[in-house]
Amino acid sequence: GAPVRADISKLRPGQRMTVEWRGRPVWIIRRTPEMIARTQALSPGVLADPDSRQPQQPAYADGELRSLKPEIGVLVGLCTHFGCSPLYRPEPDAAESSSDGWPGGFYCPCHGSRFDLAGRVYVNMPAPTNLEVPPYRFLDDVIIEIG
Ligand code: FES
Repeated sequence: GAPVRADISKLRPGQRMTVEWRGRPVWIIRRTPEMIARTQALSPGVLADPDSRQPQQPAYADGELRSLKPEIGVLVGLCTHFGCSPLYRPEPDAAESSSDGWPGGFYCPCHGSRFDLAGRVYVNMPAPTNLEVPPYRFLDDVIIEIG
């Protein structure tokens, strides 16, 4: 399939947009500094693969934010369990302030898998791996080419 281009000039901090690539949804999120800080503050022990060691991912999918730019996340929007569409829940859950509270991320309604704002899956989830990071590049400050 051909690469697709996404214009992120109207994507505001905290928002997500979706483009289709090879018949699959690709999410682009603009993380706020606070969202970045919350992601970086997660204890590696709560994540199944915090350093994204899984194979067949671009090199920039390593590391805690899994992206070329800290503020821009690019992820295939399909749960790695059975391919449902996880929900975007970027805000922390104020009702859960304990260490296992919800710090913001993606939640799959089908069987309850949780992912952080970099698409990293939590431990003991049905989903076996982190969300996929597609190949992408910035053509300029606001145009991303995926594929
Ligand atoms: Fe997402 Fe099963 S498809 S948890």
